[in-house]
Amino acid sequence: MTTRLTTYGPWAVVTGASDGIGRAFARALAKEGFKLVLVARRRQALESLAKELTSTEVRVVDVDLATGEGLARVEAETRDLDVGLLVASAGFGTSGAFLDNAREAELSMIDVNCRAVAALTHAFGHRLVKRGRGGLVLLSSLVAFQGVRHAANYAATKAWVQAFAEGLALELGPLGVDVLACAPGPVRSGFGARANMQMSMAATPDVVANATLAALGRSGTVRPGFLSKLLEWSLMFLPRWGRVRVMSLVMGGMTKHQALTPHRS
Ligand SMILES: NC(=O)c1ccc[n+]([C@@H]2O[C@H](COP(=O)([O-])OP(=O)(O)OC[C@H]3O[C@@H](n4cnc5c(N)ncnc54)[C@H](OP(=O)(O)O)[C@@H]3O)[C@@H](O)[C@H]2O)c1
Repeated sequence: MTTRLTTYGPWAVVTGASDGIGRAFARALAKEGFKLVLVARRRQALESLAKELTSTEVRVVDVDLATGEGLARVEAETRDLDVGLLVASAGFGTSGAFLDNAREAELSMIDVNCRAVAALTHAFGHRLVKRGRGGLVLLSSLVAFQGVRHAANYAATKAWVQAFAEGLALELGPLGVDVLACAPGPVRSGFGARANMQMSMAATPDVVANATLAALGRSGTVRPGFLSKLLEWSLMFLPRWGRVRVMSLVMGGMTKHQALTPHRS
């Protein structure tokens, strides 16, 4: 019988596994019998997750994916493994007026959300194509489908991921590699605090991970969570400028507390 494990196993690499959505992916994949490489910066958080996942083999790689050195270590420390799945969940956002934010944080966001995703997809993509089967799950977002005021750079990084995944799916599908963009709305995780966004109607990381794994190999984009689906349907017939306005209002709701408590990332 073909299962996710036989198609995409035995090893999965999950970036951003120390928290939120990446951690939920790791738990869900471990339940299905995948062996796991857990990637993020916080070694302690990765090790405590590894201790929890006693049913399977786990390797921890604590690296900063904003650096070339970190990316090279992920490649080096997985070279001996039969990796069939990459879940690229590491990422972060900022919010507020772009010009008011620290330039370093904005550039680092491009490095983690885009450059690292391109580098790891290139590295693992070659390996997956060589074995003739595998999967790439890339974390896009609800904000990927239009520009968004007060999350201009973050939305742009996610637009890049979304477009990248859509094009790549057509390149790699015929070679046996399934590419899936996961575009959730607000999710209860460490993301909101780091991005200084207050989210309501947030989905749980488990909902995102389970819906995404269920969609792998079946579609090119999955939009888990109630709000994501609601906005997908309600924005569908608006012109792009209309979507920009509506999503900017939604972001305005998530950042209105900033007027009271100024924050710099
Ligand atoms: N939460 C949401 O509302 C939401 C909605 C749509 C899309 N997304 C996307 O979903 C993905 C996961 O977000 P989340 O909600 O799970 O956020 P989270 O709870 O803050 O987790 C982010 C993960 O990324 C890792 N990370 C961040 N910077 C890193 C770096 N420089 N090097 C290595 N790892 C790094 C963090 O680990 P360390 O801090 O230990 O390095 C952490 O494990 C992101 O790409 C985000 O853009 C989130």
